[in-house]
Amino acid sequence: MCGIVGYIGHREAYPIIIEGLKRLEYRGYDSAGIALFDGTSLNVSKTKGKVADLENCVQQEIPNLGHIGLGHTRWATHGVPNSVNSHPHISNSGELVIIHNGIIENYAALKQELISRGYTFKSDTDTEVLINLIEDVKKKENVKLGKAVQIALNQVIGAYAIAVFDKAKPDEIIIARLGSPLAVGIGENEFFIASDASPFIEFTKNAVYLEDEEMAIIREGKDIKIRKIKDDSLVDTYVQELQINLEQIEKGGFDHFMLKEIFEQPKAINDTYRGRLLREEAIIKMAGVEDNMKKFLNANRIIIAACGTSWHAGLVAEYIFEDLARIPVEVEYASEFRYRNPVITENDVLIAISQSGETADTLAAIKLAKSKGAFVFGVCNVVGSSIARETHAGAYTHAGPEIGVASTKAFTTQITVLTLMALRLARAKGTISSSDFRHHLLELEMIPKKVEKALKAEASIKEIAYTYKDVSNFLYLGRGYNFPVALEGALKLKEISYIHAEGYPAAEMKHGPIALIDENMPIVVIATKTPHYEKVVSNIQEIKSRKGKIIGIVTEGDKTVRELADHVIEVPETLESLSPLLNTIPLQLLSYYIAVMLGKNVDQPRNLAKSVTVE
Ligand code: F6R
Repeated sequence: MCGIVGYIGHREAYPIIIEGLKRLEYRGYDSAGIALFDGTSLNVSKTKGKVADLENCVQQEIPNLGHIGLGHTRWATHGVPNSVNSHPHISNSGELVIIHNGIIENYAALKQELISRGYTFKSDTDTEVLINLIEDVKKKENVKLGKAVQIALNQVIGAYAIAVFDKAKPDEIIIARLGSPLAVGIGENEFFIASDASPFIEFTKNAVYLEDEEMAIIREGKDIKIRKIKDDSLVDTYVQELQINLEQIEKGGFDHFMLKEIFEQPKAINDTYRGRLLREEAIIKMAGVEDNMKKFLNANRIIIAACGTSWHAGLVAEYIFEDLARIPVEVEYASEFRYRNPVITENDVLIAISQSGETADTLAAIKLAKSKGAFVFGVCNVVGSSIARETHAGAYTHAGPEIGVASTKAFTTQITVLTLMALRLARAKGTISSSDFRHHLLELEMIPKKVEKALKAEASIKEIAYTYKDVSNFLYLGRGYNFPVALEGALKLKEISYIHAEGYPAAEMKHGPIALIDENMPIVVIATKTPHYEKVVSNIQEIKSRKGKIIGIVTEGDKTVRELADHVIEVPETLESLSPLLNTIPLQLLSYYIAVMLGKNVDQPRNLAKSVTVE
């Protein structure tokens, strides 16, 4: 979490950093700060609140001058969000400036040591400890800033992406990473530093991504030199050409990124299977699966590790893999798995699912599985992310940048990738007939058009949102493939509207949650035409007898549920295994409109961040 931006070059740093911070606000938005050096004075401005609040402060407080600067948008870990705790932090001498994303775990011991040597601290942060440690090393060892950063980082336990500069040497920025992402945009005699490439895509398409345990010395008008933090050895600089463009990271006429991303799903799903699903030839081509087919076919089981919405996609995958490919699957919260001392063998395959590819718990689960000899496959959206690099093989979702904090298109594209994988493995194992396989390919190819149709229910969903926006609780029920969809619907509502919501398997309702049902309780029931349809209808009857308000997600033309429910939202018919791809759509829109009607900040819900790089 936290977004960091830096600039060194011939332009004014201020507008580049402020605009860059706005693009990184998805990473954290409880406070923000900027430091600019104009050759004479170091101007620092920090505030609680959003980057827009920082802009106001800067206009009142400091001249926007300087060709070198660092900016930060924060998701608080150590110390409450306020102007003192927000970054950049300055060393005791007033010479060194730092921005940091991550956590220094041994900061308390380092702080005590520094206090005993006369250092003082203004903030509660681990970052202020790090910049003073760097200063201390620089003075004690009488070394240049780059060397001091290297020595200091070797004393640090934790995770970081940092950028540091010295007022006395304003033609140089030092950066380093361990566990938090860091990209450098390479322009003509100028460099851009950021947590991802979005702050600099209009300036350059050339970027270098730092690997873990690497640091770089960036010199204005000169070059970037990358070294290993541990032993100072030089690393080759690999410049990548960026594939994203400005349009993809702008709202494109929508009120919020979340709404834009909901409506992007037909295209995103299409992009996910394009080139992989070859219907006429009746084949699925996925290099990462093909190259490791033996690992999958010989696997005792597949373990899926993920968090949040990605975990829900994993639950859907459990149904698909077991149903179609007959491979046993266990789905794990990465945060629990990593600390549970799980039994993992060389014959296990771990699939890690992550939109950002940076989630700390998922990364730790991958490292654990690798250490036990398991084969690890990644399903990520962000190209070149830490998880994409840490896994043995993988498949990208190709959803394009997801900026709204609530995950939408990432979920449906993850399910698409996992469905393709399950189908490919089923074919290889012979657990699906040729005609069934072809039928799945045909239906999958029709999903984007059907999602477009499902999105047409927007107006009626808005009305339902208006009816229930003021309630305090919601229940979501689904069965089989759609139980995870119920969980996902409840999570979407909770995280952006702050209304309490729970998802349950429909049949579990009578084992407890039914006690909650009265005339004030809205219950979203996924009741599309699947083999469990009749059973779900019985559950609806049970709700009705207790006067609960029923919002049914039904297949086009359904009559039975329409007669029982207070509201119905229709989605097109498809195979049960593909139904989560359609049934999710109305739930996303419902939570979106409720949150908008309640005046909540849909794209940046309180306390959350898009990329959870801390435990
Ligand atoms: C919910 C949401 C989170 C993420 C979770 C994992 O809308 O976005 O629950 O799904 O933090 O993130 P990734 O997929 O980036 O690992």
